[in-house]
Amino acid sequence: MILRRMGLAIMLGLNLAINLLAVLAVLATLGFANLASADEIPVSNVRPPEGRDEQKWGGPAKLPATVLPQRSDPKIWRDIRHGVFGTVSIPDKKAAQLVQSAGTDWQTFRNGPVSTWGGWGLAGIVVLLALFLTTRGRIAIDAGPSGQTIERFNALERFAHWLSAGSFVVLALTGLNLLYGRQILLPLLGPEAFSALSVAGKYGHNYLAFAFMAGVVLMLVLWLGQNIPNKDDLIWLAKGGGMFAKGVHPPARKFNAGQKIFFWIVILGGVSVSLSGLALLFPFKLPLFAVSFEVMNIFGFNLPTNLTGLEEVQLSQLWHAVVGLVLIIVIVAHIYIGTVGMVGAFDAMGTGRVDRNWAREHHSLWAAEALDEGKASSGADAD
Ligand code: HEM
Repeated sequence: MILRRMGLAIMLGLNLAINLLAVLAVLATLGFANLASADEIPVSNVRPPEGRDEQKWGGPAKLPATVLPQRSDPKIWRDIRHGVFGTVSIPDKKAAQLVQSAGTDWQTFRNGPVSTWGGWGLAGIVVLLALFLTTRGRIAIDAGPSGQTIERFNALERFAHWLSAGSFVVLALTGLNLLYGRQILLPLLGPEAFSALSVAGKYGHNYLAFAFMAGVVLMLVLWLGQNIPNKDDLIWLAKGGGMFAKGVHPPARKFNAGQKIFFWIVILGGVSVSLSGLALLFPFKLPLFAVSFEVMNIFGFNLPTNLTGLEEVQLSQLWHAVVGLVLIIVIVAHIYIGTVGMVGAFDAMGTGRVDRNWAREHHSLWAAEALDEGKASSGADAD
């Protein structure tokens, strides 16, 4: 009897011990698996990044397992992926955000619609102008040159024009390089030359921006008074400015309706592109969008007003690119009409004097006043 009891007790004890061992074994396997990787995460089958020499590449960065979660926590990772902020004790609170997910939207929009539509716009204006030139030809002086000239722009006006025009051309080319250079110039020039060009372009862009701003302010001060719309502009617009038919010359003062529209695009676009450019030059110092959105919300928009510093920078970049592209497209048309498109126009900004018949055909009201004031000269003194 005693022996039977002892046997039973031994069996129970053994059973318990085996079960305990089994439980320990399972726990040990799970626990040791984690402990084993506490120093390093073994990473196999990882290739070096594209373009890196396999021999020289030291292998993937090895993270201590303690920095990785020990269990999957989809909620935490979803929040992090969507830009949730944690807390940091350092002054730079931007560091409290692990993933700035709005950056993906910014990149997709910049490399997608902005680049694509900008490219179509630029190609479109070139095609349109080429079609206009082939159908209409150069707009001539219908009465022929008179040989007498009138002063159209004085030295200060021409200085203001060429200050903004010269700087704008460099800003446009270097800006386009930032948007399209990697696709177009990099394969043509190779990495060394492209990188040298882009670095120089970046400095040129940053510093010439100030010359452009000064030029735009000067043009505003000099020409504001002559660019206020009036009823002559409606007649000019109704007749298409005489652009599409020979012998049609709607009256205009110093600036016709087309030029006034262009002037205001340059001023408003110039101020807008300058402000967003300054916000990019001094990131996190000029948060323009939250304030603008607050004002727009008064008029029924429903735009976010609690933007982070990085979102402000991303919006500034997109706005700067879009307004810059629109300005380039419009200015290509302006350059066309000021050079190839219209006989005698360039002189206005070249020498400052235009032919009397040119003035009578394109700016009859202004020409009459200028001739009254005795601004005309004979062909001999004109050039
Ligand atoms: C780079 C090539 C350019 C050329 C050849 C050129 C040519 C001209 C000419 C000939 C005029 C006088 C038109 C007239 O007498 O009625 C003019 C006026 C003007 N230009 Fe330019 N321009 C150029 C670039 C620019 C740029 C980049 C801007 C602005 C950033 C600009 C802004 C203006 C403005 C506001 C006027 C007065 C309004 C008007 O005439 O349309 N120009 N330009």
